[in-house]
Amino acid sequence: MEKTIDESIQGSATMLNTNLAAEKFSNGKKLYLESYGCQMNFSDSEIVASILTDKGFSTTRNAEEADVILMNTCSIRENAEQRVRNKLSQYNKRKKQNPSLVIGVLGCMAERLKDSLLEQEKLVDLVAGPDSYRDLPNLIEEVESGQKAVNVLLSREETYADISPVRLGSGGVTAFISIMRGCDNMCSFCVVPFTRGRERSRDPKSIVQEASDLFDQGYREVTLLGQNVDSYKWNITKKGEIINPDEPVVTFANLMEKVALVNPDLRIRFSTSHPKDMIDDVLHVMAKYENICDYIHLPVQSGNTEVLKKMNRGYTREWYMNRIDAIKRIIPEAAISTDIITGFCGETDEQHKDTLTLMSEVGYDFAYMFFYSERPKTLAERKFEDDIPEATKKQRLYEVQELQAELSLASNKKAVGKTYKVLIEGISKRSDEEVYGRNSQNVTTIFAKDDYKPGDYVNVKITDYTSATLRGIAVKA
Ligand code: 5AD
Ligand code: SF4
Repeated sequence: MEKTIDESIQGSATMLNTNLAAEKFSNGKKLYLESYGCQMNFSDSEIVASILTDKGFSTTRNAEEADVILMNTCSIRENAEQRVRNKLSQYNKRKKQNPSLVIGVLGCMAERLKDSLLEQEKLVDLVAGPDSYRDLPNLIEEVESGQKAVNVLLSREETYADISPVRLGSGGVTAFISIMRGCDNMCSFCVVPFTRGRERSRDPKSIVQEASDLFDQGYREVTLLGQNVDSYKWNITKKGEIINPDEPVVTFANLMEKVALVNPDLRIRFSTSHPKDMIDDVLHVMAKYENICDYIHLPVQSGNTEVLKKMNRGYTREWYMNRIDAIKRIIPEAAISTDIITGFCGETDEQHKDTLTLMSEVGYDFAYMFFYSERPKTLAERKFEDDIPEATKKQRLYEVQELQAELSLASNKKAVGKTYKVLIEGISKRSDEEVYGRNSQNVTTIFAKDDYKPGDYVNVKITDYTSATLRGIAVKA
């Protein structure tokens, strides 16, 4: 559940709501969907919207007019859960005025807290875990007939491969495609293996078809999502046994190539890579296709081998640096980002400094940084003491953030004078006269609108920068 890499997982809740114009039929009921957490959750909300609009629900951006409120939640850190609880209390006040309102919790908190949300906390009517969204229409009916409804069964097979997601709030240019679900890694700090279950990959044909349909609808960028995309596999077991000898085996490198071939004007991104599994094959495919973006998110978590061992990450500092060297050798223009946790159990000052030196050695372009938050049931909770004082965790986080701000600024400074191909995603929030998009390296770039529109590719020469964005002028052919 990484990047997952993304701002959302760092904290900011985002509403995923939209009005769908063309429903097949209507049951007259309005659904309000709110998503927290990783990109996978946002992608799942699009599956939920598809399942429920097929049953006649329409979606609304206004919680006040909703008949059903569903919150797709995140358990990765304690504060993520607290935010959802606060919001649920607010919606419960609304329920006092409108008793028929259905309030449900989906996603990781549903799985982690199961019926305690229903029984003890009495915050919700419905709880549905990440593998039970097909059951939502029945669960809603159960609630309407006066019962509470729960389905938190995890599945070894469910990938929602046949469901065509309803694209919520993406602006019609970029979209997520979920390629696998669950995680088998058991990093000791992480709750995801418990909330999202075992790893399983989705049929590559359905993935390529989804990419191709998106391109036909005008989308120009897809992000292939999984907790650990490097362990994507089709037609081969974890032990390496081929399942159907008449069909080809498909690895992540093969899958990415298939999606890249859909159309040269469809950009490909992916998230998240795992350093222990990221092999050169993937990098060679990235280098071969111009439409696979030169950007790789490779969470390190810590720069110290002993801490990495306690985190059960499956690699050493040296192994990680070897992967970074491979990226720099095979894709010299690649931007590299990471995830970092400060103040993990027993982390010494020296070990923390190893994280800082690793950051400088890599020269990350971007990072998502967190202080350690102990999660129930995880290996770390069972085996280690959460013994670093909060003030120390936060001080170390601050040092990591300060260093990253310098590294990001230096990285963007290097872009000045260079020309990048930018895919326009929308009109700048600050000025109607400007548009924004991202370059291949995933840096937001702003420039004059002229006659350009979202979905256009434009070559932009960079003239100015901050640690977060680039500015430039369009270079006409
Ligand atoms: N505490 C702090 N950060 C965590 N992450 C995962 N679990 C925890 C935790 N218990 C971070 C990791 C992961 C990212 C998605 O969230 O850095 O890569
Ligand atoms: Fe990512 Fe590790 Fe958690 Fe899996 S267990 S989701 S690889 S942090």
